[in-house]
Amino acid sequence: MKKNKIFLILAVVSFLVSACVYDFVAPEVQQPLPDNGGNGEETVSFASDIAPIFESKCTACHKPGGLKPNPDLTSGTAYATIATAKYVNLATPEESMIYNYLTPTSGTHNQKKYTAAEAQLILTWIQEGAKNN
Ligand code: HEC
Repeated sequence: MKKNKIFLILAVVSFLVSACVYDFVAPEVQQPLPDNGGNGEETVSFASDIAPIFESKCTACHKPGGLKPNPDLTSGTAYATIATAKYVNLATPEESMIYNYLTPTSGTHNQKKYTAAEAQLILTWIQEGAKNN
């Protein structure tokens, strides 16, 4: 009888310990992009062509504490935020959310759209490998 009790206590304790160890919620992992795009002859620069678009048209809302903090498009964090599999699709650039969600003809994101020229810059930047250049 005593042995059974000890066994029971051990079983309960080890269950609790293992429950503590394994019972956690996995954080949402942002997939970094593989470095497989671009040929070193990029024509569009993230710093001088793309970031200014975000600064002038997007960061009123897309900033920490803004109306829509995700994606955070403030300079300094914009690249790390969008250079992820969620927003950029290197295999099929046209399907990148940071591009097709707000092209002039998209049915989504009525708050703000890119001009045709801005959309083209974004698309070319992705086609060139979405570099932090
Ligand atoms: C007036 C505020 C406002 C401005 C300015 C704005 N957005 Fe948004 N954005 C939102 C809101 C609100 C949502 C969520 C609703 C929706 O998807 O339309 C959103 C959603 C998005 C999404 C989808 C996010 C997701 O993960 O689902 C992207 C991408 C995006 N915005 C990009 C931009 C870009 C790029 C600009 C600048 C060209 C911009 N937004 C300008 C308010 C804004």
